[in-house]
Amino acid sequence: MTRVFSNRSFPATRLRRMRKNAFSRLLVQESLLTINDLILPVFICDESNMACAILGMPGVHRYSLDKLMFYMEKVVHSGILAVELFPNIDDNTKDALASQALRDDGVVCRAVKLIKSNFPELGVMTDVALDPYTSNGQDGIVDSDGYVVNDITNDILAKQALNHVAAGADMVSPSDMMDGRVGCIRSAFEDNGFCDAIIVAHSAKYASSLYSPFRRAVGSLGNLGPSTKETYQIDPSNISEALNEASLDIAEGADAVLVKPGMPYLDVLYAIKNTLNVPTFVYNVSGEYAMVKAASMSGAIDEKSVVLEILLSFKRAGADVIISYHALEAAKWLTAG
Ligand code: PBG
Repeated sequence: MTRVFSNRSFPATRLRRMRKNAFSRLLVQESLLTINDLILPVFICDESNMACAILGMPGVHRYSLDKLMFYMEKVVHSGILAVELFPNIDDNTKDALASQALRDDGVVCRAVKLIKSNFPELGVMTDVALDPYTSNGQDGIVDSDGYVVNDITNDILAKQALNHVAAGADMVSPSDMMDGRVGCIRSAFEDNGFCDAIIVAHSAKYASSLYSPFRRAVGSLGNLGPSTKETYQIDPSNISEALNEASLDIAEGADAVLVKPGMPYLDVLYAIKNTLNVPTFVYNVSGEYAMVKAASMSGAIDEKSVVLEILLSFKRAGADVIISYHALEAAKWLTAG
């Protein structure tokens, strides 16, 4: 016998009534994905005439600044509102102190200036972390035991962020997971006349195995070797800790918080959005992109419908903004008639 759990029982309640026709399905849709939800991550390098493919990420390239402008034209034309920049610098210029991160004429600052002078309306976000610049691939400065030293790293991050906004970046996104870095960056901004610069804090950034294609793209994978980032990124088994991080980051002056990776952490996204009620970003990371691409290229899944379903699931879970390597293709699908 069928057990009835509700007093509105079958046949009085038939949920399929609303599902029967397209009009009623659309009328009761609870979440909506639009092009205005998307940010495209972009890899850049300090070379010329270069568009280098990234292993495991078909369709994604690392661009030299001359090529970048053509790509940005495509992005702007697609209707995407903002990009996030990630640099790859010459391995020989990396050192233990991440010296290149402090240059105001480094590839990120030059890219920001170029983009803002050619496409002033396009939002530009930069990554604040030292891993593309350290010879050991860590996000901060390490001591003799290989431990990332928090407060020294914060000083450098604040200077790096300041250079980015001075170059014209609209938003900075600290992805380093040092304690107190948002406060340091916010003070540096206030003290230097950048009170409107947006900080999107990577608050719930997990020590995930899904970052490898990205690390290859920025050139930190080999340098990191067998080392992990477990002494600063969050343990994948924790959720209260992520909520604690997010509320601290807001208290320190973040304008938005970010959850990363995306797909395996929808519960975290949901909890943060519903607890803090602040703009919440999700980062659909490189390993997630690689998995979807591999499955679609093998013919196992239909790429367009799977990607749109994944992006929609972020909206349903509470994301206001989705950073995704699928953004450019998704923009095309979302705006096509
Ligand atoms: C590092 C950083 C990482 C990503 C963005 N910023 C990797 C890491 O923490 O090692 C990963 C993004 C992706 O995988 O797409 N500051």
